[in-house]
Amino acid sequence: MVLVLVLVRAAVLLVGLAVSDFAPPTINVNLGDEPQVRWMPILKVFDSDFLKKAAQEVIDSTIPKWLHKVLRPLIMVSEVLLLPEPYGEELRGMAAHFGTSLSDAIMLNFAYEASAFCTSIVAQDKQGNVYHGRNLDYPHSVLRNLTVNVIFRKDGKISYVGTTFAGYVGLWTGQSPYKFTVSGDQRGRGHLWDFWKNIVSAFLLRRSPVSWLVRETLEKAEDFQDAVLRLSKIPIITGVYYIVGGARAGEGVVITRDRGGPADIWPLDPLSGGWYRVETNFDHWLPSPAKDHRREAAEKAMNATGQEHINMYALYQVLSILPVCNGITVYTTIMSGATPEKYTTLVRPPDCRASSG
Ligand SMILES: *[C@@H]1O[C@H](CO)[C@@H](O)[C@H](O)[C@H]1NC(C)=O
Ligand SMILES: *[C@@H]1O[C@H](CO)[C@@H](O)[C@H](O)[C@H]1NC(C)=O
Repeated sequence: MVLVLVLVRAAVLLVGLAVSDFAPPTINVNLGDEPQVRWMPILKVFDSDFLKKAAQEVIDSTIPKWLHKVLRPLIMVSEVLLLPEPYGEELRGMAAHFGTSLSDAIMLNFAYEASAFCTSIVAQDKQGNVYHGRNLDYPHSVLRNLTVNVIFRKDGKISYVGTTFAGYVGLWTGQSPYKFTVSGDQRGRGHLWDFWKNIVSAFLLRRSPVSWLVRETLEKAEDFQDAVLRLSKIPIITGVYYIVGGARAGEGVVITRDRGGPADIWPLDPLSGGWYRVETNFDHWLPSPAKDHRREAAEKAMNATGQEHINMYALYQVLSILPVCNGITVYTTIMSGATPEKYTTLVRPPDCRASSG
C-alpha cells in the first residue's frame, strides 16, 4: 500500500512538468493466488468490453487475417502441452475471465513481442547512484489506455514491480526492490516474419518470450550479478537488448542478446568516462540507421546534462526530448534499484507534445 501511495506521489511530482502526461493505474497481483485468477484485479480498473476491443485492435493491426486463421488451430493443438508455467495458466485464466478465446490471448501476447521500439538509458551520478530510464514505443495508440503498473506480491510482501499492458503477462520494464531494475528493447526492426518465428520458437523449442524471462528474473534473481547472468544466458525466442541497473555504484549494463546467449556485454565504466549507456534498437557498436536519430539525441542530451547533474528528474527530461520521445512513445519509466519507492511510470500524450518543456 505504501508503495502505491509513493508511486502516485512521485508521479504527481513529475506530472507537474507536463500536463498531458498521466500516471497509469496500479494493481496488485498476488503470486500466492492460483495463476488462473491472479490477474483478476485487472478487471477492477479496466472494463472487460474495452479490453476485448483493444485486444482485437492490436491483433488485427499486427497479424494479417490469413495468418490468424492458420495459427488459430495450430495454437489450440500445441498450447496444452507446451506453454511454460505459470504463464500458460495465467493466459488461460485471462481468456476465461476477460471473455476472449485462448488462442487470441496467446496471439495478443506474441503480437506485442514483435514490435517494441524503445530507448533505455542507465547512468551513474558522481556519488555512485545508479538511475535507469526507458521509453516504450509501440505503434498502437490504444496501448496508452492499457498501460498498468503491477505490484507482484508474495506472502504479503512486494516481490517485484513492473509496467505492462492489461492482458499481457510478460514485462518489458520492472524492478526488484533494493536489487536491480531491468528494461528490454527490441533488437533490430520488426517484421511479420519475426512474429511467425517467435511463435514457432516458443512452441517447438520451448523457449521463453523475452518479456517472460524478464519476469522470471525479477522473481528469482538474488542480486544484480545474478540477474545479469540469467538475462545473458537463458535461451529466449528472439534477439533483444536487456538493460540492467543495480542498487550499487558500477552496476549497470546493456546486454545484447542472441537467441541462445549473449552477443555482447556493455557495462558502465564510470572511471573511464562511461557514466551512462544509451540503447535504442540497434547494436551499440554499429552506427544507427540514417533516419533514426534517437540514440544521438539521447547521448547529446546526456552529455549536456553531465554526470554531476544527472538524477531521476534530469533523466526524465532526456527521455522527453524529440525524437527520443516521439509519436509512438506510449510510456516513460524512471527507476533506481536503491530507492524502489521512486519507481515512476507516466503515459505520454500521442505526439509527446508538452513534454519537452
Ligand atoms: C483513451 O482514453 C481517453 C480518456 O478516457 C480517451 O479520450 C481516448 O480516446 C482513449 N484513447 C484510445 C486510443 O482508446
Ligand atoms: C558525448 O560525449 C562523449 C564523451 O565526451 C563523446 O565521445 C560523444 O561523441 C558525445 N556524444 C554526442 C552525441 O555528442
